[in-house]
Amino acid sequence: MDKHAVQLAPSILAADFARLGQQVAEAEQAGADRIHVDIMDGHFVPNISMGAPIVQSLRRVTHLPLELHLMISDPDFFLEQFSEAGSDAFLVHWEGNNNLHRTVHRVKALGKRVGVAINPATPAVVLEEILPDVDQVLVMTVNPGFGHQPFLHTTLPKIRRVRQMIAQSKPGCDLEVDGGIDAATAPLVVAAGANVLVAGSSIFNESEGVAAAMKRLRATIPVEGSGGAHWRGWPQP
Ligand code: DX5
Ligand code: ZN
Repeated sequence: MDKHAVQLAPSILAADFARLGQQVAEAEQAGADRIHVDIMDGHFVPNISMGAPIVQSLRRVTHLPLELHLMISDPDFFLEQFSEAGSDAFLVHWEGNNNLHRTVHRVKALGKRVGVAINPATPAVVLEEILPDVDQVLVMTVNPGFGHQPFLHTTLPKIRRVRQMIAQSKPGCDLEVDGGIDAATAPLVVAAGANVLVAGSSIFNESEGVAAAMKRLRATIPVEGSGGAHWRGWPQP
């Protein structure tokens, strides 16, 4: 059953790492639907973030699905260790991957959910052939690599296009957006067709605290949501 028509995926990149477990627990209690974990290698993007030990620690403090957004140059090389650490889903980039179909099917062979991410300058059309094979699409609404960047409004027509593509060829596929999502931009992306919203700074960097920030964000989302996307559950290991 759907927990929420539009799901919130707090991105821990903006969390206080000294209190990570506590902040994730707060997000879970406040109704987060999944936890978004940004993995960066300083090569695919100009920033370094975290690796499998953090995922392993997170696995012990939350029951929520852990989705890993892989912003790394060799995703295939790390899939197994991240799976063993406790991840439930992988988001892999179209950019820089010469064998995306192989990567997608490696994730599926591990029994995990798989999504393909596209950067702001990448057109929706690149998803056409891979869409039937994936559980979700991630439209980046900022350039990947850093939190707290301003939302790129030029991505809104692409979100609408991806929603149409999903309706035509993969109903039930999640349409997730990532970057600059706050109380002002959440209604815009939901109206364009997004049904999973990643949010870092607007959840973890607010002085009011995680629960109040999530409540405020959710209050901006129309109850009817994107009209049609379905929660299809997570594969059992
Ligand atoms: C950026 C990451 C995002 C980031 C979003 O490369 O993929 O998940 O944490 O942060 P905010 O919500 O602050 O834009
Ligand atoms: Zn991300």
